[in-house]
Amino acid sequence: MNMILRRLSRAAIAGLVAAAALTAAAHSAEAADTLGSAAAGQGRYFGAAVAAGHLGEADYTATLDREFGSVTPENEMKWDATEPSRGTFTFTSADRIVDHAQSRGMDVRGHTLVWHSQLPSWVGTLGASDLRTAMKDHISGLMGHYKGEIHSWDVVNEAFQDGGSGARRSSPFQDKLGDGFIEEAFRAARAADPAAKLCYNDYNTDGVNAKSTAVYNMVKDFTSRGVPIDCVGFQSHFNSNSPVPSDYRQNLQRFADLGVDVQITELDIEGSGSAQAADYTKVVQACLAVERCTGMTVWGVTDKYSWRSGGTPLLFDGNYAEKPAYDAVLSALGGSGGPGEPGGPGEGTATCTATYTRTADWDGGYNGEVTVTAGSEPIGSWTATVTLPARQSVSALWNGTAAFNGNVMTVRPSWNGALAAGTSTTFGFTVTKNGSDAAPAVGACTAS
Ligand code: XIL
Repeated sequence: MNMILRRLSRAAIAGLVAAAALTAAAHSAEAADTLGSAAAGQGRYFGAAVAAGHLGEADYTATLDREFGSVTPENEMKWDATEPSRGTFTFTSADRIVDHAQSRGMDVRGHTLVWHSQLPSWVGTLGASDLRTAMKDHISGLMGHYKGEIHSWDVVNEAFQDGGSGARRSSPFQDKLGDGFIEEAFRAARAADPAAKLCYNDYNTDGVNAKSTAVYNMVKDFTSRGVPIDCVGFQSHFNSNSPVPSDYRQNLQRFADLGVDVQITELDIEGSGSAQAADYTKVVQACLAVERCTGMTVWGVTDKYSWRSGGTPLLFDGNYAEKPAYDAVLSALGGSGGPGEPGGPGEGTATCTATYTRTADWDGGYNGEVTVTAGSEPIGSWTATVTLPARQSVSALWNGTAAFNGNVMTVRPSWNGALAAGTSTTFGFTVTKNGSDAAPAVGACTAS
């Protein structure tokens, strides 16, 4: 069903006309003072990297669904996973993550389009002109499949060498196409999905150093020449050899001052206890201090499945218990209390209201739009119901995902779950009248 609605949403009908509004009842529900909702209260997203293979594990999905507002497929959108042989795209595992996220009102980050690693061997065998075509085809094939559904894409990942030189890293793209491959990739990405934020992503660029300065100079050049770039991702994999830099905030700020957003994209910090918690606090505080730091993603849900599991670098331990680092992050985000604690999930009073408007009308059908508005507290997600008059049926839905029970359509967000206090989002749908021109009834809006 989600897949079908995803396709239908692309065919959303334009042409809006003003119409009288019906107001539906407001219903209150419980607040979720979780990582996602606390971050939303600060106008940020808080996400996790997710592996499709773990979505069948109840504790994994319960923790993911409760705490996070954004997901990044950990491996499922990489080139080797999505185009293992030229021109043959496979989206099964990535779709599983995207469908899961959308049905729970979580947003999705795209990772990654052009990277030297997890690259199928056929790419390396191509000559320059073929490689250029293959790169553009990969970008348009992958981004096109998820058009309108990804809030930010890592267009190019790790194109700079590690260490002091600030030089570009050797890769098939760099070696055959030269420095210009990065801007070619960004231009192709803008054409493929104009709504997605386009990011350059790298590691060991978190503080001010030769590598981050090389990236900075590239972004500055791009913005001055109008090459489309919207954000820079800072992977932020930290441990004792690579600690949280003392000039982290200053570095994020200098990029933001170029006119791009910054995002913390793959955060994990090896360690434990209060030392690890203190490091996580530094990272969250640095992001919150930079207005254009729009969100943070931790690179996994639980230490059990971390790519650096020996370093226990995440917020939940192997049994999904909250670590001191979890409490530190929640508190730095302005939240209070874990599940069952004062101010935690189940303790608050987040509310939303839903308002209906007919935005277009023709002989055989009409378009309806529902505006969902958060009450005086931020919400992590919402659910709204629309009851259709007899004979009418819904033929398309956008900015939401629907489940039908008879003539009652229950809508959850697609990318637009988290709302700051008092702010709104909309979803829309097309109705076939089948001879009935009556208005639908918008019922309960439930916030969580
Ligand atoms: C890692 C995944 O976590 C692992 O499961 C996989 O085996 C290798 O890649 N930088 C990136 C991520 O941009 O894609 C990497 O993810 C971690 C480093």
